Amino acid sequence: MTKATNDRPIDDVSGMETTGHEWDGITELDSPLPRWWLWTYYACIIWSVAYWIAMPAWPLVSDYTKGLLGYSQRGQLSDEIAAVKAGQADLAARTAKASLTEIKSDPELLEYALAGGRSAFAVNCIQCHGSGASGSDGYPNLNDDDWLWGGTMEAIHTTIQYGIRAEHDDSRASDMPAFGQDEMLNPQQVDAVADYVMALSRDDGVADTLPGKLVFAENCVDCHGAKGQGDIELGAPNLRDHIWLYQGGKTMAVDIVTNSRAGMMPAWVDRLDPVTVKQLAVYVHSLGGGE
Ligand code: HEC
Ligand code: HEC
Repeated sequence: MTKATNDRPIDDVSGMETTGHEWDGITELDSPLPRWWLWTYYACIIWSVAYWIAMPAWPLVSDYTKGLLGYSQRGQLSDEIAAVKAGQADLAARTAKASLTEIKSDPELLEYALAGGRSAFAVNCIQCHGSGASGSDGYPNLNDDDWLWGGTMEAIHTTIQYGIRAEHDDSRASDMPAFGQDEMLNPQQVDAVADYVMALSRDDGVADTLPGKLVFAENCVDCHGAKGQGDIELGAPNLRDHIWLYQGGKTMAVDIVTNSRAGMMPAWVDRLDPVTVKQLAVYVHSLGGGE
């Protein structure tokens, strides 16, 4: 191996300087860094300095360097939210003007109503009606085709706006008397009419032969109808459809005729904005049982 003028050994094969390190006769060439690599390296350094100046970069004691461009992720998020809101403002304005039928027939408004209705339902309604709107004892299932107060979009809209037996002047109202408690019927009559109601719902022809038939005709038909078919003007349930608001069964019937029930559904007109209430009406109507 020859020596270069600066005293570093020169590799005989390549004619290049080596670093002087040697392991078992293998020496390390001291070749210069490739140009492209070096320039990329310098460019990265320049870029990083520019980045520190332009963008938020260095942590300080209680703050951080903000950068000349004023970028922040929070700012970007609120810009994005503002953009979505602006897009929805148009839909909300159109929903406010449209009738329920118009909303239903406009695919864009319908989609907006269903999405908005679904999320408003999850926030305001599932406590009582259940997350799948399938209800429970005293809280009606909103998925079926059985409606206490009517299942058209208009009827549902009215129910949601003003509630049922709620503290609102326009609330739906009707009260089944507490026949037993108020001594309008004696316990035998209550028992007889409960048997009659059970027989009505079985629909096996036995009902007509029962003594409770007369009690029913004299006390119940005004609201529940001559055949027990119910009345949506009064929110009186159909007693023949095997769909019970209150669990069903004779014990329950005796209890209800004795003590009455008065399910309460809040009015939403003063709590939610009109667009949301419309969306809820369209959404509930779409749940499957809408008339
Ligand atoms: C505090 C409990 C409660 C909450 C919250 C509630 N509801 Fe109700 N809802 C009821 C009860 C109880 C009834 C049945 C009233 C009756 O016995 O007639 C009812 C009835 C209804 C009906 C009428 C069903 C029919 O068969 O005619 C609709 C529609 C309805 N609710 C929709 C909603 C929507 C939409 C929301 C959310 C904005 C909501 N409810 C929130 C308790 C509630
Ligand atoms: C003034 C109207 C009215 C009269 C009269 C009336 N009801 Fe009712 N009834 C209702 C209403 C309204 C409900 C629903 C209560 C609620 O929503 O909380 C109801 C509920 C019931 C239920 C529960 C139904 C279910 O789905 O769980 C039974 C059973 C019943 N009534 C039987 C009778 C019988 C029997 C009589 C006669 C002795 C009678 N009712 C008289 C209005 C009336």
